[in-house]
Amino acid sequence: MPYSDLAARWAFLLAGLAIGESRISARGDHSAMIAALGALGATARQAPDSTWVINGRGIGALTEPDTVLDVGADGWLLAALAGLLASHPIFAVLTGAASLPAGMKAMLQLIGARVQQPASLGMPMAIAGARDALPIDIEVTETNLAVTALVAGLNARGTTRLAFTGTVLPPMIAHGITTLRGFGAEVSDTVEAGQRVILLRGQPDLRCVVRPALVIAVDGPAAAGKGTLARRLAAEFGLPYLDTGLLYRAVARLVFDAGGDPGDEDAATGAARRLRPEDTARSDLRGPPVDGAASQVGAYPAVRAALVDFQRQFARAKGGVLDGRDIGTVIFPDAPIKFFVTASPSARSRRRWLELQARGVAADLDQISADMRVRDANDAARAAAPMQAAADAILLDTTDLDADGAFEFAAEAVRARF
Ligand code: DC
Repeated sequence: MPYSDLAARWAFLLAGLAIGESRISARGDHSAMIAALGALGATARQAPDSTWVINGRGIGALTEPDTVLDVGADGWLLAALAGLLASHPIFAVLTGAASLPAGMKAMLQLIGARVQQPASLGMPMAIAGARDALPIDIEVTETNLAVTALVAGLNARGTTRLAFTGTVLPPMIAHGITTLRGFGAEVSDTVEAGQRVILLRGQPDLRCVVRPALVIAVDGPAAAGKGTLARRLAAEFGLPYLDTGLLYRAVARLVFDAGGDPGDEDAATGAARRLRPEDTARSDLRGPPVDGAASQVGAYPAVRAALVDFQRQFARAKGGVLDGRDIGTVIFPDAPIKFFVTASPSARSRRRWLELQARGVAADLDQISADMRVRDANDAARAAAPMQAAADAILLDTTDLDADGAFEFAAEAVRARF
């Protein structure tokens, strides 16, 4: 499951427990969670831009559902709802195909709930929640039990303690902790005697959160590896991907098609204003005539201005990973995470040469180096949105890194930030 989905699930749950309106931008199907929150008294609607608007009632203020809560095959949702129900003085029935982890029933009883399972194994399961939920202290062997304990701990008087064997937290819990903190819960995370120990203080005043769509900016010179990296980050975090170089390439191609000269500012500006999204899907946008011409047209402020809205709109509703030259400086200066990817000129020329070889295109390494030098100089020296690292960008030099190494580094930086 992509990272943003993991974090989004926690965000929905916590938005349902915070008093007031939270806004969450998330991809994926969250309908079972939304239905459950609705049955427990929160309201959720989708705004026209597809952001979820959730109004919670506060921890401890859930209403008793008048329907059975169906978790489908979703083990996380089962665990989270079990924790929620066990820690509130309401009666509810959970159903679905998800399987109950061993030890769940015992844990719900420790919290103070009464649990009935007509079938000996699992679902449906009726839970009569505790009047005063007790904080629990467990050694975690199963991630979903930890989810239940954390969620129940939100309405327990006192501190819930989870101890994980080893020093690495399961991603589901790591994202849970980050999201809990984002909503204002007090959670500590320390290593004690080879265990990772999480302490959650119960009954926090959760604040509402506006969780905007996540934008990741990836800038840098040609053939530094930004396209590969951006594409992989997009897949990892469940975000749409836009190669903004294609916009400038398509403008250059339209100029050529019209028999124009990319050195003619009016012709380039006209092409940029005529550009349609489908123009960027053409198969003739890569290669020598267009490489240099894209850099040339990209130097005109009016061309850049004509392309700004498209880039911003692209990521508005669902976020995105955008790669280019000015994403972190001009297009999304407020992006919460930015990378500037570089590599030595010789490593970059060699990569481009290998890329062309692999595509069966004959190419001369010296010529590639020379073209790249011209393009770098042009992209970096132009007055309009020159290629440069934003002050808050993370620099990533891929000279001695392969694609996996660059991806691992960047993905870890994204996770650490959120
Ligand atoms: O990323 P690329 O090599 O496909 O980009 C081709 C050219 O387009 C690049 O040399 C400069 C221009 N460009 C730009 O000016 N701004 C961007 N955000 C992306 C590309």
